[in-house]
Amino acid sequence: MTALTLSTAAVSGLRADAVVVGVAKGARGPVVAPGAEAVDKAYDGRLAEVLETLGASGAEGEVTKLPAPSGFKAPVVVAVGLGSVPEKDETYGAESLRRAAGVAARALAGSKKAAFALPLTDAADAGAVGEGALMGAYTFDAYKENGKEAKAGGKTPLAEVTLLGGKSRDKAFKAAVERAVAVTEELNRARDLINTPPNDLTPEAFAAVAQAAAKEHGIKVQVLDEKALAKGGYGGILGVGAGSSAAPRLVKLSYTSSKAKKHLALVGKGITYDSGGISLKPPGHNETMKCDMSGAAAVFAAVVAAARLGLEVNVTGWLALAENMPSGSATRPGDVLRMYSGKTVEVLNTDAEGRLVLADALWKASEEKPDAIIDVATLTGAMVLALGNRLFGVMANDDAFRTAVVEAAEEVGEESWPMPLPTHLRKGMDSPTADIANMGERMGGGLVAGLFLKEFVGEGITWAHLDIAGPAYNEQGPFGYTPKGGTGSAVRTLVRLAELTAAGDLG
Ligand code: BES
Ligand code: MN
Ligand code: ZN
Repeated sequence: MTALTLSTAAVSGLRADAVVVGVAKGARGPVVAPGAEAVDKAYDGRLAEVLETLGASGAEGEVTKLPAPSGFKAPVVVAVGLGSVPEKDETYGAESLRRAAGVAARALAGSKKAAFALPLTDAADAGAVGEGALMGAYTFDAYKENGKEAKAGGKTPLAEVTLLGGKSRDKAFKAAVERAVAVTEELNRARDLINTPPNDLTPEAFAAVAQAAAKEHGIKVQVLDEKALAKGGYGGILGVGAGSSAAPRLVKLSYTSSKAKKHLALVGKGITYDSGGISLKPPGHNETMKCDMSGAAAVFAAVVAAARLGLEVNVTGWLALAENMPSGSATRPGDVLRMYSGKTVEVLNTDAEGRLVLADALWKASEEKPDAIIDVATLTGAMVLALGNRLFGVMANDDAFRTAVVEAAEEVGEESWPMPLPTHLRKGMDSPTADIANMGERMGGGLVAGLFLKEFVGEGITWAHLDIAGPAYNEQGPFGYTPKGGTGSAVRTLVRLAELTAAGDLG
């Protein structure tokens, strides 16, 4: 992991491989952003002019490298685009700083240490730049032949980030940096789990990772294996895992604080591979389905981050882990499962498996009567069609809670959109044989899935459902602080929601 520190040292004397400055789009060409005054001065106040000559505009995502001015210990200056200059009396937004820091950190792969001289108005900005840098520096190289040396282009990730312009002794700045480190380390660990191929990350292997992390951070952990699941009557999780030689698991992670007044339950879809089962996915739809445990990875990361931050709230994480495979023992379209709640489900399509494992975990989570339940899942292709690849959909059984979730996401720089749960879609899931079918109308498929889950939330419990099928896995090129592959979608939103719950501002 990349290290993150604060420094008040003079930029010219800093021993680093590069100094990062911000450049914004002004009305008459590029403008050097605040925080880089000393750097600009060392170029005789001509940095903007030099950047313009080099073709820089200040657009978001832009990177311009130039030789550092004489007298600097660092050899290179990296100017990263921040987008438009803020309106009068406004400052650069946290998310544009986060993205720019991510772009710069990725562009600096191969370097050891970089000093970031970006515009920091307050401690929250320092946290945002820290988060962006640590997320942008991320690479996944566990499966490259020569490990660290054989990364894309033979470059190792930026090892050390120093934030300049922050107050290194200021409590708020220190806390912001600590928070950025805890959250992004766990977020990057979630990315690792998502990127790990499914032949290695079985439900059992995922549970073992969770157990080890729980032990390290003083979190209570309980793992139900296939025998315990059978004994407990978890028909949904067992039904989905029935076709795989890698047996399913239900993992419970309990972080408790002696000062907690509220209890938040998080439930994650953890399909370590989704082939579709007997309703097999065609080629073109299964190559990235190792990402189908992204919800469980996000929940896992959020619980560990809450523990590391010592949040004054009890957070229980439920990881519903199974592999969805076709075989002679697999659940068939037409089978009826008896769920943990006691309800029966007619499985019409074995590819609608996420809602089945979540149903059991939601009902189990409900038994503890938490103040709120939030589930996270790569649940439907329909949500990707509706919202694209960067937003997750938010559904809930309470309008105010749904709004609070969308706002919390926005606060931490995650894009989402509120979606409805129209009751008329419920009748499409009526089954002649069982209490409910696992499929309904094709139109509005994301909402149908949400309505199915709603049936398995305990009476009177506030609940929200995040369908992250779009943003969980980035098949296109990297952008901002988002790499190719697993993104860690929803981790920061969940941590923020835990913080808000601790503060009594939610649920
Ligand atoms: N894991 C998929 C959803 C998905 C699609 C995630 C694309 C990420 C990217 C889910 O289990 C699934 O297969 N859903 C079906 C449901 C349908 C059969 C009712 C879908 O969306 O097609
Ligand atoms: Mn599926
Ligand atoms: Zn799935």
